Amino acid sequence: MQRRHFLQSTAALGLAAGLPGRALAGRERLRLAMIGTGMRGQVLLKELLRREDVEVAALCDIEPLMLRKALDQCEKAGRPQPRVFGEDADPQAFRRLLALKGLDGVIIATPWEWHAPMAIAAMEAGVPVGCEVVAGISLQDHWDVLDTQLRTRTPYMLLENVCYRRDVMAVLQMVRAGLFGELVHLQGGYQHDLRAVKFNSGDPARPYGGGVEFGAKGWSEARWRTQHAVQRNGELYPSHGIGPCAMYANIHRGNRFTHISSFASKARGLQDYVKRKMKAPADHPSASTRFSLGDVVTTTLACENGETILLQHDTSLPRPYSLGFRVQGTDGLWMDLNRSIHIEGKSPPHQWEDFQAYQDRYDHPLWKKHAAQAEGAGHGGMDFFVVHAFVEALKAQAPMPIDIYDAVAWSAITPLSEQSIAEGFKTLAFPDFTRGLWKSRKPVFAFNDAY
Ligand SMILES: NC(=O)c1ccc[n+]([C@@H]2O[C@H](COP(=O)([O-])OP(=O)(O)OC[C@H]3O[C@@H](n4cnc5c(N)ncnc54)[C@H](O)[C@@H]3O)[C@@H](O)[C@H]2O)c1
Repeated sequence: MQRRHFLQSTAALGLAAGLPGRALAGRERLRLAMIGTGMRGQVLLKELLRREDVEVAALCDIEPLMLRKALDQCEKAGRPQPRVFGEDADPQAFRRLLALKGLDGVIIATPWEWHAPMAIAAMEAGVPVGCEVVAGISLQDHWDVLDTQLRTRTPYMLLENVCYRRDVMAVLQMVRAGLFGELVHLQGGYQHDLRAVKFNSGDPARPYGGGVEFGAKGWSEARWRTQHAVQRNGELYPSHGIGPCAMYANIHRGNRFTHISSFASKARGLQDYVKRKMKAPADHPSASTRFSLGDVVTTTLACENGETILLQHDTSLPRPYSLGFRVQGTDGLWMDLNRSIHIEGKSPPHQWEDFQAYQDRYDHPLWKKHAAQAEGAGHGGMDFFVVHAFVEALKAQAPMPIDIYDAVAWSAITPLSEQSIAEGFKTLAFPDFTRGLWKSRKPVFAFNDAY
């Protein structure tokens, strides 16, 4: 039996039984591949190359410069050159990579529209998937990704790194310890000024800002992400906000999303940036582009157990970065914006306390154990943890800590919010991707210091 089929079938047994896996002899070094070696792929590759338990066996990208940078990273790390795919710019080259024998997993870090077809092809080939955020575009994509995973039993993890942020994990410990009492309301979002990501000069040496190009003339995310803002109006990037909130609320583990509705503000920020701030000439195509994406999109979800969750997508206006988390229960609340907390009976009445003492007390065991290794990893260390979790869960044949149900439900917020807005901010029923299993499933995310 091929190594990966062994891995896959034993993982399936573990998943089916809901049992934690155990490390198996000979499974200590994984042969991983990566599809998409752009700006994000290179960050994830850095994490893979730091690990002795990973061999980077193959890389695929259709942009020669991005591929070159990734190969340089491998060389600088003193690792053997991986097999390379996509040099011919064939967008289907990833299928040849997936046909390689003996792959233990693949990380997908391509533009959003490629995630579902690439993940489906990988799962069909029996190659476990670590997929960058968003699982698909349409609602049907999400069902297709889910049903392929259920049929093939190939492991799939959404690489949602914010779930591993240090304060977010400390708050998870606090939620589990009952510090907030019974949870009532949660907030999160993606509030990040992306104007200089959505437009650049097209010069690979300067991937952020410095121009108003997007589409074919743009570079990196300006090449593909901006087009989503032209065509779509909805909560386009839900998982950084919803991931932690869903873990706090035990979504798919005794709870589930039942309803969703979204509101979108007018769209002004991107055009204002191009015309007024960047002073693009009137005849430049970006100056006459009409953007559909509302500058601030506000989404509310209702949960089976009575909690509400509010998400905000805010990427086209000037603002400092903030994911805007709030966790509120019958005994108090935490907000990340000013690192503040109020717990009735512990905090002075009607006053905020600084979060630091709580952070120190409830620091998650994973962070305590790996803080030194996470030092220098992307996004304040959380990128170490998300890669670590994928690799360790694969090695242990254990269920993925952020699994297929999480992936599709978190990501399906996008097409559902688009539908809600398009239908006059209508409240929609949220599909139950678990088909009733949410009632009996148990939490697995970050229950110990292993992954
Ligand atoms: N979790 C995070 O913190 C985080 C941060 C940044 C980006 N991301 C996500 O990572 C993904 C990639 O974003 P990015 O910033 O690296 O974008 P990018 O444009 O820099 O990189 C994407 C790469 O995919 C390649 N590609 C496109 N089509 C391909 C195909 N058919 N076959 C092979 N390669 C193909 C492109 O050539 C490009 O190099 C996106 O889903 C993005 O949302 C996540």
